[in-house]
Amino acid sequence: MSGANASRGRFITLEGVDGAGKSTHVGWIAERIRSRGQEVVVTREPGGTPLGEQLRKLVLGEAMHIDTETLLMFAARREHLEQVIQPALQAGKWVISDRFTDATFAYQGGGRQMAAARIAILEDWVQGAFQPDLTFVFDVPTDVAAGRRGGREPASPGAASASDRFERENLAFFERVRDGYLRRAAQFPRRMKVINANRALESIQKELEEYLVVS
Ligand code: TMP
Repeated sequence: MSGANASRGRFITLEGVDGAGKSTHVGWIAERIRSRGQEVVVTREPGGTPLGEQLRKLVLGEAMHIDTETLLMFAARREHLEQVIQPALQAGKWVISDRFTDATFAYQGGGRQMAAARIAILEDWVQGAFQPDLTFVFDVPTDVAAGRRGGREPASPGAASASDRFERENLAFFERVRDGYLRRAAQFPRRMKVINANRALESIQKELEEYLVVS
């Protein structure tokens, strides 16, 4: 990230399985960067634009083919890049997104076992070579994440205890998502930092701060 164009903002993404606690860190990271006098835009995927939020409702709520699910993630992302992410970066703002394309590789690729090469085609179509400057992958054992999601593994997919289609998936699905994130982080170690999120908040924030200081 040093060496990047100084007039351009930085793009930071937060990733992890549902229940890894990443949402807790979004606001804290935004505040740390604001305290350095930078303008910060906080956003999320799927979503981040009015159309993207409608697509989010569909993709989290309606049963659909895996290809449809993946295409909708990238459709929302295309709008997000066009309407929010690129304009903010070009204006010199920092953008912090709660999830981005690594989530598609982890959830649709790992979790739903779609071939990474197919996802890479859509990635190239929608964003070309554009990538986040820095990505934090909040990592916790799958059973810990399940506990944080507020319940045990549902007895059957579709059990009414969880709130969206992904949260209703079983532990094996989330194991594959977690592996998907870890494999991707191993592939892009300069950009993606795996944060052990199974420890005290202060200790996690101390590590985040170390990465942010050099950003
Ligand atoms: P959230 O709970 O972090 O807001 O994310 C919503 C869900 O969408 C979460 O379970 C992960 C899932 N998701 C995908 O499956 N693929 C994607 O590309 C993105 C961005 C999210």
